Amino acid sequence: MPWGPSCPVGSPMVLLATALLLSMLLDPALLLTLEPRGPPTPGPEPALHARFDPRAMRLAWDCREDATASRCALTPRGGDPVVKKPRKQECWCNFEDTSLHRGVLLEVQVNTSQRSFREKVLYTNPGAEGTAAHNFSCVIYDVDFMNCTWARGPAAPADVQYFLYIRDSRRKQERECPRYTPHLGTHLGCHLRNLSGLTFRNYFLLNGSSRATTRIQFLDSILSTKEIERYGPPANVSISCNATSCLIRWDTPRTRRALSHREFQYQLDVQRKRAPPGGRSPLIEVSGDLGNRYHFPSSEPRAKHVVQIRAADARALQWGSWSEPMEFGSEDAGSSLLLLYLLVVLGTLLTALGLGFLFKRFLRVQTLFPPVPQIKDKLSDSHQITWAEFTPGAGKGDPEEVLSVEEVPRPSDGL
Ligand SMILES: *[C@@H]1O[C@H](CO)[C@@H](O)[C@H](O)[C@H]1NC(C)=O
Ligand SMILES: *[C@@H]1O[C@H](CO)[C@@H](O)[C@H](O)[C@H]1NC(C)=O
Ligand SMILES: *[C@@H]1O[C@H](CO)[C@@H](O)[C@H](O)[C@H]1NC(C)=O
Ligand SMILES: *[C@@H]1O[C@H](CO)[C@@H](O)[C@H](O)[C@H]1NC(C)=O
Ligand SMILES: *[C@@H]1O[C@H](CO)[C@@H](O)[C@H](O)[C@H]1NC(C)=O
Ligand SMILES: *[C@@H]1O[C@H](CO)[C@@H](O)[C@H](O)[C@H]1NC(C)=O
Ligand SMILES: *[C@@H]1O[C@H](CO)[C@@H](O)[C@H](O)[C@H]1NC(C)=O
Repeated sequence: MPWGPSCPVGSPMVLLATALLLSMLLDPALLLTLEPRGPPTPGPEPALHARFDPRAMRLAWDCREDATASRCALTPRGGDPVVKKPRKQECWCNFEDTSLHRGVLLEVQVNTSQRSFREKVLYTNPGAEGTAAHNFSCVIYDVDFMNCTWARGPAAPADVQYFLYIRDSRRKQERECPRYTPHLGTHLGCHLRNLSGLTFRNYFLLNGSSRATTRIQFLDSILSTKEIERYGPPANVSISCNATSCLIRWDTPRTRRALSHREFQYQLDVQRKRAPPGGRSPLIEVSGDLGNRYHFPSSEPRAKHVVQIRAADARALQWGSWSEPMEFGSEDAGSSLLLLYLLVVLGTLLTALGLGFLFKRFLRVQTLFPPVPQIKDKLSDSHQITWAEFTPGAGKGDPEEVLSVEEVPRPSDGL
């Protein structure tokens, strides 16, 4: 590039023409990508002294009276550059809250009528790798409460302590977590009961300290309240049935901000109360723009059913808690009692039939074969009597017994 401190003083017109031509040919945004086009301006005296304030997300440099235009860019590591164009006399750029913990590259270009200045600042996360907290997440629940959790860094020293700071997007206030949830002395969670300071997007900074020499890296994250809110259960669930279907209705759950119906998604869990194990019906998805109602097809007589509903943001689909179980239909117990009664009757009938059959069979056996003395038939006493009466005459019973009976009169004969 012909311009720079070493360029001949006699050719400013040529320079200007070239610059104009270049600026017409090249997309200015392209010039601010990380790879500089052409060799960087060889400046023996760094003129801008660009510096970055991470808390204010501000890139500033030494002001130049003769600046004609300036431009700056912030590129998160592995991300797309964000380009800002400050006003002519401004010598700073304020960036939106951006996650910085992976490191960012900042660039500024200031043009004067004479030359173009360009400087880069690399901002890195101070501290040792793996010491930062990780798995950071937050949940807003019951409208007014927020819980955040994280895990200690794998390389963090034993005495590490973490601190959470929350800043609203207007940067009006930054506050530290008022109530940590410690685990073995280390803060690994935060519970907030006053969310009035939160805006739609919020900057969360989790830094740490240790008495050991290791410096603890920070973790930062931008979370929108809409994305992290878990809705409570839908209110006022009601069910009304006619002969063929049941209409289930509910009210939109309470949320931090008033939302339109179509920003909700619902899930209905409708189950038969005495469903066989493994016979659960699938969940029913109902879009919020259908007016918070669902026609459940169910004709009379209908068994007892249980309904529960939960809600989520239609985009984030983070499901909230289930509503209290509501029942409809008639209790199954009536029909099961009837079944029990029928079973008892059937059982009695079968037993009676069985006994009758046995009795008949016994009678047939009796007529075919003469009875054996060992058989004691409790069912027919009269029959036993007849058998006892005829035994002596039959003479075909137990031979020994018959013999002893016959021997009795013998001594009297001998007398
Ligand atoms: C500064 O000048 C260079 C070269 O003339 C041009 O490509 C660039 O777009 C200018 N930058 C700004 C911020 O106007
Ligand atoms: C952190 O999250 C990852 C992936 O989400 C998971 O595999 C890991 O078990 C989590 N670690 C802790 C300590 O919770
Ligand atoms: C939030 O944290 C509080 C205090 O640690 C705890 O009692 C509560 O159960 C947590 N709630 C949720 C939804 O995580
Ligand atoms: C909640 O915090 C705000 C400031 O963030 C404060 O003005 C307000 O009084 C607090 N409310 C309660 C109930 O503590
Ligand atoms: C953590 O960040 C807060 C807010 O920027 C700051 O006040 C505090 O000194 C920092 N703590 C450590 C240990 O770096
Ligand atoms: C529930 O219904 C009652 C009566 O219709 C109404 O006053 C109340 O506001 C409803 N609750 C919600 C959360 O919509
Ligand atoms: C029951 O309600 C549904 C939905 O409102 C309706 O389509 C159906 O005709 C009604 N059936 C009877 C028998 O009233």
